[in-house]
Amino acid sequence: MERELALEFVRVTESAALAAAPFMGRGDKNGVDKAAVEAMRKAFDNVDIDGTVVIGEGEIDEAPMLYIGEKVGSGSSLKVDIAVDPIEGTTIVSKGLPNGIAVLAAASGGSFLHAPDMYMDKLVVGPGAKGVIDITKPIEENIIKVAESLGKRVQDMTVAILDKPRHKERIENIRKLGCRINIFPDGDVAMAIATATEEPTVDLLTGIGGAPEGVIAAAALKCLGGDMQAILKPRNEEEIQRAKEMGILDIERTYNIDELAKGEDIFFAATGITGGELLKGVRVKNNIAKTFSLIMRAKTGTVRYVNAIHNLDKKPL
Ligand code: FBP
Repeated sequence: MERELALEFVRVTESAALAAAPFMGRGDKNGVDKAAVEAMRKAFDNVDIDGTVVIGEGEIDEAPMLYIGEKVGSGSSLKVDIAVDPIEGTTIVSKGLPNGIAVLAAASGGSFLHAPDMYMDKLVVGPGAKGVIDITKPIEENIIKVAESLGKRVQDMTVAILDKPRHKERIENIRKLGCRINIFPDGDVAMAIATATEEPTVDLLTGIGGAPEGVIAAAALKCLGGDMQAILKPRNEEEIQRAKEMGILDIERTYNIDELAKGEDIFFAATGITGGELLKGVRVKNNIAKTFSLIMRAKTGTVRYVNAIHNLDKKPL
């Protein structure tokens, strides 16, 4: 993929964030999701690719738009796999809480794991701890190894984990080690990226979240030179069956970052909706909107922050 596509992809996440902005803090999860999905879908029409959604809003029968298998883009000959989450953190955006972002990842065909819509256990670190993690080992062991690699004392480490009852025991174990824990309500893509930015606000992310979000996070970590491992966590026989139908026969296998997002021909774009760990949120005043975005490319490792001012009188939502 040519580097010029970077700006086109940012326009797509900007569109989703701008469409979501009027819904911030209004308690309407479905409304905000619908607005962002529609805007993202439309914005893709102007991107010069033959895109196929491989991580999206669900199967064709459950998602009217951006469903898995849907074609997006202007239809040029450039075949691209697309992973989208028009609102990563619908609950947080509807409650007006931090870290809601609009995200997409794009890669040359066949690069992304076609992750079923189920849970996934994730272990994520930045470049300073690349190669030292092992998700099959206890979390305490991983934290100690990562601290060594980062040259930090364990008590100075910050570990991020989703605030969910399923993590009760893991949180207790991490507490016993004496490091800081950032327990956040939703939005593990932003928090995964926060381990690998230039000034990381967390040292390690652990915990079970969505598998599609896991693949999107892996694409971002590829661009940032970080590391990630993951294991699918089906909740019942039906989910195991679903994974099998998608070609995943060994449900217990560990995925490394290259198996989640293969190769280097990968772009990742995100625009802040509610401000947070990674990006400022959308600001609107007198029909002028400001957006804050991030666009990264794995091939070159370039991380570009894009701030835009949108005149909504000239370009209504
Ligand atoms: P949504 O945008 O689909 O609401 O996802 C938010 C999120 O917090 C993800 O970041 C995370 O991976 C997943 O939900 C966790 O799932 P659950 O809320 O079921 O624990």
